[in-house]
Amino acid sequence: MDFHRFSFIICLFLFFSLLRIQSVTSSTNSSNSKEGFDYSPYIRIDEDGRVERFNDVTRAPPGFDPETNVESKDILFSPENNLTLRLYLPNNTNQINQNQKLPLVFYFHGGGFFVRGAFNPLNHNFVNNLASEANAIVVTVEYRKAPEHPIPVLYEDSWTALKWVASHFDQQGPEDWLNNRADFQRAFLSGSGAGGNIAHQMCMKNGVYEEKLKGVNFMDLILFNPFFWGREVLAGKTDNRTRGGRVERLWKFVYPNTTNGIDDPWINPAKDPNLGRVGCSGVQVFVSENDFMRERGWYYAQKLRESGWSGDMVVVDYKGEDHNFHLANLTSKNSVDLRRRTVLVINQEG
Ligand SMILES: *[C@@H]1O[C@H](CO)[C@@H](O)[C@H](O)[C@H]1NC(C)=O
Ligand SMILES: *[C@@H]1O[C@H](CO)[C@@H](O)[C@H](O)[C@H]1NC(C)=O
Ligand SMILES: *[C@@H]1O[C@H](CO)[C@@H](O)[C@H](O)[C@H]1NC(C)=O
Ligand SMILES: *[C@@H]1O[C@H](CO)[C@@H](O)[C@H](O)[C@H]1NC(C)=O
Ligand SMILES: *[C@@H]1O[C@H](CO)[C@@H](O)[C@H](O)[C@H]1NC(C)=O
Ligand SMILES: *[C@@H]1O[C@H](CO)[C@@H](O)[C@H](O)[C@H]1NC(C)=O
Repeated sequence: MDFHRFSFIICLFLFFSLLRIQSVTSSTNSSNSKEGFDYSPYIRIDEDGRVERFNDVTRAPPGFDPETNVESKDILFSPENNLTLRLYLPNNTNQINQNQKLPLVFYFHGGGFFVRGAFNPLNHNFVNNLASEANAIVVTVEYRKAPEHPIPVLYEDSWTALKWVASHFDQQGPEDWLNNRADFQRAFLSGSGAGGNIAHQMCMKNGVYEEKLKGVNFMDLILFNPFFWGREVLAGKTDNRTRGGRVERLWKFVYPNTTNGIDDPWINPAKDPNLGRVGCSGVQVFVSENDFMRERGWYYAQKLRESGWSGDMVVVDYKGEDHNFHLANLTSKNSVDLRRRTVLVINQEG
């Protein structure tokens, strides 16, 4: 069954159609419009602003994955807001010491800030493979999404999750997998699309916009097709202004209170005066030739370099690939290559 391919088409379709949704939104003239809008089969908002979602129902359950030998479980990390994260622990039979400490990787899922979930099968399968190949503990976060919870709620939820995980640094937390197996000196932040944007913002919170997390050392920030935009027109052929206009509308939809629009530092890191203080020692950016956000990934790396930040940085550009190809087919040549490079970063061999 061509499940991956099917999901990928859904994923791509979703990505581009969510940009189209914004045309619908803007044609109703404002977010406080009483008209609402219908964008079945993804989302429908009635005149009172009630949101109905149709596309986020597929959830892979946690548990043991026999293909990768990875165990996963869900944990309520914020009872106040009923928020869950998923922990992945590889159980490699060839592992010499079952008590060996493993690198700790955060992975934030994408979906344009308003669709998809951490437990979507595409994300779950990718993370099982990553956890197994990197021999790392991975954490994914079910953050709340716009428009019900506009930006910055998803950044706050993600930060709450980071703090909850970090509270285990002295092995006194409520969760034994983290107490006993996570190496907090080898922590990583990663994410796909909008999740890459979140991973970057978590690095900015860590010691710049929030207090630095105690006992945690973030080594690398790993961005897969990060969702960044901005008013500057970039030179590359994939900086498509037509689609860019849609990103602008999308941003207003997910963040109605925005004052600077697509030049908010939250979507255009080049506008962040503190960019050079990003709280990670290395940055790895994966971009794809056919992704219209490709140039933004390159630009991010360029601006970070110009900011005076002095860490190690690598940009990898995949020819012939599109947005989030790495989730679509886990066995394709480039998808395997992307994970191989990510594993090298996590194990600090490359
Ligand atoms: C949006 O507002 C403009 C100006 O107020 C008006 O001319 C237009 O008809 C409105 N469009 C919709 C879809 O309500
Ligand atoms: C909490 O979230 C779960 C889904 O993650 C849902 O099934 C449950 O109804 C929610 N509980 C409350 C009290 O909202
Ligand atoms: C890992 O595998 C071993 C051997 O199959 C098993 O005894 C153990 O319970 C597993 N651990 C976890 C955390 O699943
Ligand atoms: C820009 O995107 C639009 C909408 O997807 C497409 O029709 C157009 O051909 C693209 N332009 C370029 C130069 O790629
Ligand atoms: C926008 O800002 C106003 C004033 O600070 C606040 O009352 C309102 O709740 C905010 N709206 C959203 C969607 O965050
Ligand atoms: C995934 O990629 C592999 C290797 O290129 C290919 O053989 C397979 O057909 C692809 N699967 C799907 C579902 O596209």
